[in-house]
Parts: sequence; structure tokens; C-alpha cells
Amino acid sequence: MSALDPESAAPGNQDPTPTGAIPLVRIPPPPPPPEAPLTGAQPLPPLALDQQWYRRAVFYEVLIHSFADSDGDGVGDLHGLISKLDYLSWLGIDALWLPPFFPSPMADGGYDIRDYTGIDPRYGTMEDFRELVIEAHSRGIRIVVDMVLNHTSSQHPWFQASRRDPSGPYGNFYVWRDRPNEYLDARVIFVDTEDSNWAWDPVRQQFYWHRFFSHQPDLNFDNPAVREAMRDVVRFWCATGVDGFRLDAIPYLYEEDGTICENLGPTHRYIASLRDMVDREFPGTVMIAEANQPPHEVVTYFGTDENPECHICFHFPIMPRIFEALREESSHGLREVLAATPPLPKGGQWGTFLRNHDELTLEMISEEDRERMYAWYAPDARMRANVGIRRRLMPLLHGSRREVELADALLLSLPGSPFLYYGDEIGMGDDIRLPDRNGVRTPMQWDDSPGAGFSTADPSNLYLPVVSNPYYDQRAVNVSEHRTRPTSMLNWMRAMLRSRRSHPAFGIGSMTLLSTSDDAVLAFLRRDESETILCINNLATTPRSARIQLPGMAGWHLSDLGSGNWFPDVREDESVDITLARHGFYWLSVTFLDPEEDR
Ligand code: GLC
Repeated sequence: MSALDPESAAPGNQDPTPTGAIPLVRIPPPPPPPEAPLTGAQPLPPLALDQQWYRRAVFYEVLIHSFADSDGDGVGDLHGLISKLDYLSWLGIDALWLPPFFPSPMADGGYDIRDYTGIDPRYGTMEDFRELVIEAHSRGIRIVVDMVLNHTSSQHPWFQASRRDPSGPYGNFYVWRDRPNEYLDARVIFVDTEDSNWAWDPVRQQFYWHRFFSHQPDLNFDNPAVREAMRDVVRFWCATGVDGFRLDAIPYLYEEDGTICENLGPTHRYIASLRDMVDREFPGTVMIAEANQPPHEVVTYFGTDENPECHICFHFPIMPRIFEALREESSHGLREVLAATPPLPKGGQWGTFLRNHDELTLEMISEEDRERMYAWYAPDARMRANVGIRRRLMPLLHGSRREVELADALLLSLPGSPFLYYGDEIGMGDDIRLPDRNGVRTPMQWDDSPGAGFSTADPSNLYLPVVSNPYYDQRAVNVSEHRTRPTSMLNWMRAMLRSRRSHPAFGIGSMTLLSTSDDAVLAFLRRDESETILCINNLATTPRSARIQLPGMAGWHLSDLGSGNWFPDVREDESVDITLARHGFYWLSVTFLDPEEDR
């Protein structure tokens, strides 16, 4: 695989199925799937048999309300998503992450939940959800749902009962105080809208604690009834057949005066108790930690051998470093964060991403680096939100397909299970005029019709408007056009996903950083017991030729993972010189094979 020639990766211009040389034996590649009609790429092993699926998987975050509207009311729904499963299977997605779709006033994109065990009627019914799970599973696609443990909407009946009846059964479900003078060391997260983590409730005549919007009161995890109620919610969704949970905002479950109220011991104990429960009652259910924390803190959400917590932890700090590396034309920051990343515990995996439904968070980098990121990527104040940047991948990278491909290649080859964001596979744009983070949550662009193929509703009745910037609107960017054009971003991404799936070392292999003679060239090995892959990335805007050190590999052979074409062998001094185009990258197979046998 390389970025030298965008056409080279397109189906029709090369064998899209990598040959994947491994030491001594070559495994014949599976036949390429047909281009049409839409069918699954390569079926996964039966769902139940693959306990480690999440370590090899590529996840795809899809907002139900923004993806496909089956009944023409202007809001995406479950049946719409079901109708697009063939597309997702064709693309090569292994699992879907569904942000909240529960009844909600939608004052925080659904993360403000009014009823944990219902489905917003605009999206469909519980039967429709079951159908989604069954249909997804029949295509080898798993379903992960969001689980917002920390807070509810202020419209949740628990909160309404709590504020009205302090001595009733829900009186102690939230964190109430007469004076807002506790936990003052806890930072405010949504700095754009909130100036305190305490809010006054005129009904109960007390203050309540909230880490996010003031309409999202935090649940009181000191109360055993809250702990049990949330365990029941998890049980409820497990029983629907889902494969896992993304645990939203988990560092903040408990509070303790004199601390920053993040990552506290009782929080970890509660997560461990949830894991214990799902392991016993619904074995195989995967837990994913959204803990926006430095690597040494994030790693604690894997738990210990005796008290395991999550299977996957999102690796927040690596993401801004990828964007920084592209502007600095240097691998320094990436090397630093990779070196600071603790080893994964057995069975653990990082979750990596470039963009998602939130702002590109800059909380994990220094003040100075943050200012530079704003200057590079969000010169207009409307592009910023809280401590971050509210933009989609393609406009963020100034429409440069080469930069987007390099960023994606890094995402797909660095350690971790990648989480893609819906629409980024076609380079969708954003709308910075929309409030909060809505600018990156606009309708998926399926075709060039007025409703972008998302909905047949009058475009003025869509829940959010389709992107209207002529460089990014549905006439310029849509799935249907991308599918028919062999050199499109979509077809490129599909070929990359197929390559990743054919080489499990990307998911489960070790990673070794390599020395290179040029700081703009990042090189590393991904390796499992069956193969070794050399990934080389040129972060610069100019072509580079770099000497790469490959300790212990004198005489080994290099071949392109995508085409099988041979590269020069590793020299006796254990190095190789590689020339890359600007923003070019290679994924090379490193083998012991006798070259005469295969050339
Ligand atoms: C998580 C979600 C974000 C939401 C916040 C509060 O960080 O990703 O969208 O606003 O939690 O629920």
C-alpha cells in the first residue's frame, strides 16, 4: 500500500487484495468481492467464536439521526440505518458505535437522556432495534451502544422526583448541596457555556452538581440505589444482544473534596463491578472507556488482572499529535506520545480516532501547543468549541486528499482499533455556522438529490441542514458518485480497510518505532507471530529520502503490501533507503522468503 499514486489503490487499477507475505508460507488471498451489487467484503468468523474481535476491528461511529431517514420525516432512523448495512459491510466495517438514541430533549445531541430503556420514537421502536442487531450480526457487523452513566437530562423522571421530593426514593439520586462550595478543584469541561459545576435548582432550593451542561445533573454514585439502577440499565441493553458499550465520560462518576474529582478509586471499583457483572451474565460484552486523560491515567481504565475494567480505552493524546505532525512536518510529537504510552495489558486495546461527533479535543496538550493548533486549524473563532476544534477531517486538512490519506494511513496502522466517523470516508464537509457541535453532525450525503439521499423530506424540514458550501455540498461529495469513480476517496478507504483486515498484525501485533535519518519520516514495525509489516510515513510537504534502521533484519526482503511489488532488500548494515513523495506512505511486508521463489 502506498500513497504515491492515488490511482494505484483503486479497485480496477491493481489487485485490491494484498498478497500479505508472511515468513516461509504465502497464504493465498481471498478472492476480491464483487463491486456490485453491494455485498459483504470478507465474512468474519461466526460472531460468537471470535473473543478478541475488538482488537482487530475497525469501528464506525454513526449518528442514527444523521445517517438515513426511512420515513421522510427529516430525521434519520433505525430502518434507515438497517437499509445502509450493506453499504457498511461493503466498505469493510466490523462494528458500529451508536451514540445515544434514547428519548431525550436533545439539548446535548442525545447525551442528555430522559429514559435509559426507551428509544426516541422518531428513530423507531425496540423491535426495530432488535432487527438492527440481527441484521448487523447477519453481516458480521457488531453493535456497540453508548452508555451515559455519569449524568441524566434534567428532564429525567429521576431528577424531577429528586428535586420535588428530597426525602422520597429518588431524593438522593443526584448530588445536592445547600452551598456550592465543595469540589472546587474540579475543572469545568464545557467552558463555552458553563462557569461552574454547581447549578441552583429553584424547586428544591438547593444546588446540584453537573460536570457537563447544567441541564445534565450528575448522578450520585455514592447512593447504592443509583449504582444498582445503572447496572440494570446495562443489563437491559445487554439483553437486546448488543456486543458492547462505549462508557461515556467515565472519569467523573464520583466526587471527593480536595481532588480534581476525576479517576477516583470508587469510580474504578464501580467500572470493575460492571465488568464483573457483564462477564458473568453476558460474557463477551465489550466495554470501551471514554476517558479523556493522559496515557498513564487512561491505562488505569483497563483495570488489573484481578479486577479488569475496560477492553478498549480511547487514546485521546495521540490524535492531536497526528494533526500537529502534519503542520510541523516532524515526527517528534508522535514519537513522544508513543513512547509515553504504557504497554497494553493482556486482552486490552487502544481505541484510536481522528474525528468524532465532538470537538477535536485539545485538552491533552500544552497551552503552547494548543495555541498553535488553533492557529493552524481553527483561525476563525466559529471553528472552536470548548477546548477544541469543531471541524470535520477533510475541511480541517484544507481539502488535501493526500493529507487526509496520510492521516488515515497512520490511524489504520498505529496500535489500536480505529474508530472512523460517518461521512469521513467520502471526505464530507462541515457547517461552522451551526451551533455547538452540530456543524460536524449534518446529514450523510448519499447522492446529489436535494435531500442528499438522506431524506425525501423537504430540505427545509431536515433535522439539520445538509452542508451547503459548494465545495462540499451533496453535488460535490456523495457516496453514489464516489462508488462509481475508481479513484475516489471512498474506494481508496475501502481498499485500505480490506488490507487492514487481511493483516491482523495491525490490530494485535506489537509496535516498534524505528530510527530514521529524517525527522519528517516516521517508521515503525507492526508484528505478530505470522508477519512483520514496515510502515513508513512522510509527514512533510516535500518529497523525502530517508535511511531507516531495521535492527536484526539484514538481508530481509521488502514488498508492497498492496501490490506485492518488491523493494530493495535490507542491506547488510541493517538499513534501507526509502524515497517517499510528499505525504507519501508505504506499508511493506518484511519477510525472510527466498526472493528467487517469488519474483
Ligand atoms: C461525552 C460525549 C459528548 C457529550 C458529553 C456529555 O463527552 O462524547 O458528546 O456532550 O459526554 O454527555
